[in-house]
Amino acid sequence: MSNFGFESTADDVLADKDLSGKTVFVTGGASGLGQETARAMAARGAHVVLAARDQDKLDQAANAIRAETGSDKTETILVDLASLDSIRACGSEANRRFDKIDILINNAGVMACPLGRTADGFEMQFGTNHLGHFLLTKYLMPLVQKGSDKRIINLSSRGHHIAPVNLEDPNFERREYDKWQSYGQSKTANILFSVGLEDRFGDEGIHAIALHPGGIVTNLGRHMTEEDRAWMLKRMEENAANGGEAWKTIPQGAATTCWAATCEELEGRGGVYCEDCHVAKVDNENPVGGVRSYALDKSTADRLWSLSEELVGESFSR
Ligand SMILES: NC(=O)c1ccc[n+]([C@@H]2O[C@H](COP(=O)([O-])OP(=O)(O)OC[C@H]3O[C@@H](n4cnc5c(N)ncnc54)[C@H](OP(=O)(O)O)[C@@H]3O)[C@@H](O)[C@H]2O)c1
Repeated sequence: MSNFGFESTADDVLADKDLSGKTVFVTGGASGLGQETARAMAARGAHVVLAARDQDKLDQAANAIRAETGSDKTETILVDLASLDSIRACGSEANRRFDKIDILINNAGVMACPLGRTADGFEMQFGTNHLGHFLLTKYLMPLVQKGSDKRIINLSSRGHHIAPVNLEDPNFERREYDKWQSYGQSKTANILFSVGLEDRFGDEGIHAIALHPGGIVTNLGRHMTEEDRAWMLKRMEENAANGGEAWKTIPQGAATTCWAATCEELEGRGGVYCEDCHVAKVDNENPVGGVRSYALDKSTADRLWSLSEELVGESFSR
């Protein structure tokens, strides 16, 4: 059982780890939880690669990490997860520039945005949060195969409780768009993707872990209305009053990622969902914890995998 929990920070979790020689690739590494994860790992000696879509933001984040950690092993790479062409270009560049990836952290995300479409016509949240990472992971897999740790971390959310993936209409083409249903299905897809990866690559020693980082104030809330904020605040306060979850700081919010990426307890395991630095139990009722069974269902994971291959127009297999 993990010694870490709700209050732990990324630095706490990594305190006795030596990450020198490890390459860690973090999507959405230019802000919020991704940047803090990268900072904490760079502070333990890791070579970190920050991937995001804006070079100025990437440079600022990389410079901040270099200044805070003294590490000269922080690099950046551009990728727009809302464009399959950009993902393919990033994949080729990464394979040219890097020898291996020990830990891949699929962290980037967008939440509750108004209806939008990616460059390839997918609904923005499903397209960015799931399909973008699905294809990027395919392109980075040869590097992960050359790495030693072989862990893939997929940032999901407790928001997966809101909705399963609608495999009939994932892109809201035949149903009315709902920004929270969309976020929920995309975060369920992140867990099902971990199950699918585990099933296909687990026996190669590549293990995929999904997680909920906690509730943390970051730029993720940029699309929230005043009404959304009031609702979320009320929910958090009610939870806290009932002994449940309150807000985490950004260092606390990056802890479960750092734990899942490095802990011994998950050696040889994957296809699981973690929260507060432990593997969560299946629970179809609890509103403040646990993983819904629909998010771990292997046949749904297989159907999502096939659908994702069809949508991106490429197969992804061994
Ligand atoms: N904060 C929370 O309470 C919370 C709770 C549960 C789960 N999560 C999950 O944690 C992850 C990190 O979120 P965060 O809170 O750190 O939010 P954040 O500060 O907004 O970071 C998200 C990152 O993703 C990047 N991103 C968004 N769209 C992208 C695209 N099309 N291509 C490339 N990069 C893109 C953003 O870049 P730009 O700055 O260019 O947009 C940003 O760097 C997300 O997957 C989120 O769903 C967060």
